[in-house]
Amino acid sequence: MTGAAAPSERPWWRDAVMYQVYLRSFADGNGDGVGDLPGLRARLPYLRDLGVDGIWITPWYPSPMKDGGYDVADYCDIAPLFGTLADAKAVLGEARELGLRVIVDFVANHTSDEHPWFRAALAAAPGSPERDRYHFRDGTGPDGSEPPNDWISAFGGRAWSRITEPGGEPGQWYLHLFAPAQPDLNWDSAAVRADFATILRFWFDLGLDGLRLDAASGLAKEGGLPDHGFLAEDLFQPVNWVGSPLWDVEGVHDILREWRAIADGYPGDRMFVGEVVVNGPERLARYMRPDELHTTFNLDFLKSPLDADDLRRTISATLSAFDQVGAPATWTLSNHDETRHVTRYGREYTGVPLPPPWPSPPSDRELGARRARAMLLVMLALPGSVYLYQGEELGLWEVEDLPDSVIQDPVWESSGHTIRGRDGCRVPLPWAATGPSLGFSPGAVEPWLPQPAEWSAHSVESEDARPGSMLEFYRSALRVRRASLAPGDPLDWVDLGGGVLAFDRGPVRCVFNRSTDVVQADGTVLLASDASEELLAPDTAAWLLR
Ligand code: GLC
Repeated sequence: MTGAAAPSERPWWRDAVMYQVYLRSFADGNGDGVGDLPGLRARLPYLRDLGVDGIWITPWYPSPMKDGGYDVADYCDIAPLFGTLADAKAVLGEARELGLRVIVDFVANHTSDEHPWFRAALAAAPGSPERDRYHFRDGTGPDGSEPPNDWISAFGGRAWSRITEPGGEPGQWYLHLFAPAQPDLNWDSAAVRADFATILRFWFDLGLDGLRLDAASGLAKEGGLPDHGFLAEDLFQPVNWVGSPLWDVEGVHDILREWRAIADGYPGDRMFVGEVVVNGPERLARYMRPDELHTTFNLDFLKSPLDADDLRRTISATLSAFDQVGAPATWTLSNHDETRHVTRYGREYTGVPLPPPWPSPPSDRELGARRARAMLLVMLALPGSVYLYQGEELGLWEVEDLPDSVIQDPVWESSGHTIRGRDGCRVPLPWAATGPSLGFSPGAVEPWLPQPAEWSAHSVESEDARPGSMLEFYRSALRVRRASLAPGDPLDWVDLGGGVLAFDRGPVRCVFNRSTDVVQADGTVLLASDASEELLAPDTAAWLLR
């Protein structure tokens, strides 16, 4: 490790446009139908040409893949499915040469049930140091056959599973806020804390620019694990919880401070972006106090319905809460956990419903794609950094007709086959107009999830050749953002009447017309989401030179 360096005056992560690579669905290099590091490496120039500043790679660690790699069996290696440590170094080196930053997921709330720590805990006795790395408890009820408390899992059902002790008798219970294959770590354990400090250093030493902290708001649990007070029908909705013993517990901030001190010991503006799902922007901002996380995902924006008032409220609340702690906002429209926004925006209700209804409501793809273009302009004009999700630059939609037999998301099982889960936004990317996997895999291999035949026209190859394609729109929008918007430009709201969202950012005015009437836009249209008209049709947006 090299010595600490003072952070730059304006570190890269304050304004970067990052591209999320969901590794197993991005590009397959070795022809097994699953995306991997050689596949990603070969496509890095595509990402440079798209105009992003860096990439976020989803978990690449050895894993039984029961939750797409968010169940880690070894924190300091690469899954053979994805390649080797040498491949990871090659991706980092080439990304750096192309001017792309690289951050990777860091999953510390839980391990895989196949991690050696958990196996050792199962083999050891109740009360042992091995069990103390996790949350093992005796059950309740006369014979211990009831879970230790009332906590529920994010994937449905109770957050506890009972084990069989090494002697064969029914035993203790362990906590898992996600799938049973993802036992929660006990962050009060000094051994856990020390091991993760070493793991962090391992990846920073290798040259990562940052880490995306998975499920960060769940790390600490209230001592004694008291009941939350859940009712039978309650869903896992931390945005509605206040003072819960399982989420957003004060102790989490000590863990984050420890990690921040480690990151600050490295040169080159290493950063954290936290997946922090809590009750409102004020609670969220507490995670970005100057000695904690650099940034967090701002999922309120993603979840907001396309309504000018709702959007303005969300944007303002975010900017003012984050300003209090000096943190930049982040903006995102889709990720590997949410229905793709082309599909959401083509529906009558454009927000994110909970629970996701099935069968899902109809979606008008053409309308969704038009609104997606409009919202891209809104998002790219906002101050702060942006996360794009792979395939949105091609206008891909949610694949909602995957047969039951191919579904892999653990939510499907945990919910007793009532929630189909997130595979529909994880279908492998189409790179070519023809072939059995539309260029995702070399050779005649089928991809790990089937792609819709219509994606041929949405492949990189097809969109590259088609003027006015979504891909062309993304490339030009990213180019114009870089050329026209300065990071320090303030945001000033402009009132253009009901149903219209408008704000000035330095030389650029962004107008998004959600009213049903055509809106007069004065100024030179830099980039509009339909034609370059000065009149904005409903559900379109434009950047105007002031
Ligand atoms: C995060 C990830 C999600 C994963 C979960 C459990 O929410 O984004 O994909 O299933 O954590 O690790």
